[in-house]
Amino acid sequence: MASTVIKNWDNKTWLSSQNYINSFNNFLIKNTNINSNFKILDIGCGRGKILGSLSSRLKLKYKPLGIDIINHKDRDKRINFKRANILDLSLRKSQKFDLILIKQTIHLIKLNEVKKLLKSLEKILNTKGKILIFTLETTNNEIPTFKLMKIKLSRSLMRDKKILKIITNLYPQRIQKRFIFNVKISKKKYLDMVKNRYISTLIPLSKKQITQGIQEIDYIYKNKLKFKDKLNCIIL
Ligand SMILES: C[S@@+](CC[C@H](N)C(=O)[O-])C[C@H]1O[C@@H](n2cnc3c(N)ncnc32)[C@H](O)[C@@H]1O
Repeated sequence: MASTVIKNWDNKTWLSSQNYINSFNNFLIKNTNINSNFKILDIGCGRGKILGSLSSRLKLKYKPLGIDIINHKDRDKRINFKRANILDLSLRKSQKFDLILIKQTIHLIKLNEVKKLLKSLEKILNTKGKILIFTLETTNNEIPTFKLMKIKLSRSLMRDKKILKIITNLYPQRIQKRFIFNVKISKKKYLDMVKNRYISTLIPLSKKQITQGIQEIDYIYKNKLKFKDKLNCIIL
């Protein structure tokens, strides 16, 4: 696992807005046969707002389980939570799931661990269960960036391509979909997100590099940012 600690990903960003969560859950409902009996596991759940909201919406009989290395104080209480590194966890085969979600987390797993992780998840999946993996769209990505951030993001996306290739080789029958969310955000708010290093590519940068980046974005972009947040979805 990368030595990155992502604390502000879903901390008051569009990713934690009710609009985003509703659109994402619409996508989940449309692309799975999810119902109130489903047992759901979310790996790298962050604050767990997505499944918390889904649980209320579908009146899930079983609280979804979220696993993350960080235990946020303000995490959603509608999910059960386990603080753990998924790679260190010996997953109990007695507890099986109908849906396993890995949203924008697999890129933080070492390439040589991806196969091991997916194979271990298969063992805790019910017969008709599905694993849904979401990663940033690798081409035509519209995330607003500054020069250095763009370089780092492109590298990370190249790595994502490798992960997608590993998954394709393992599961040639996988289904591919796209989730697209239209983001409208003030530049000021986005600059706060950059300052808070919301995305993993910003975490290793120095304070000076972040400050310069903020100035760059402030100069290049208009006061209102409009872009598409595009995700690849792989269904196994
Ligand atoms: C970019 S965030 C995505 C959060 C959430 N899935 C979402 O899309 O809103 C990645 C999350 O994965 C968690 N994470 C990274 N590596 C992990 C690991 N090996 N085991 C468990 N959680 C991990 C991070 O702490 C972080 O909360």
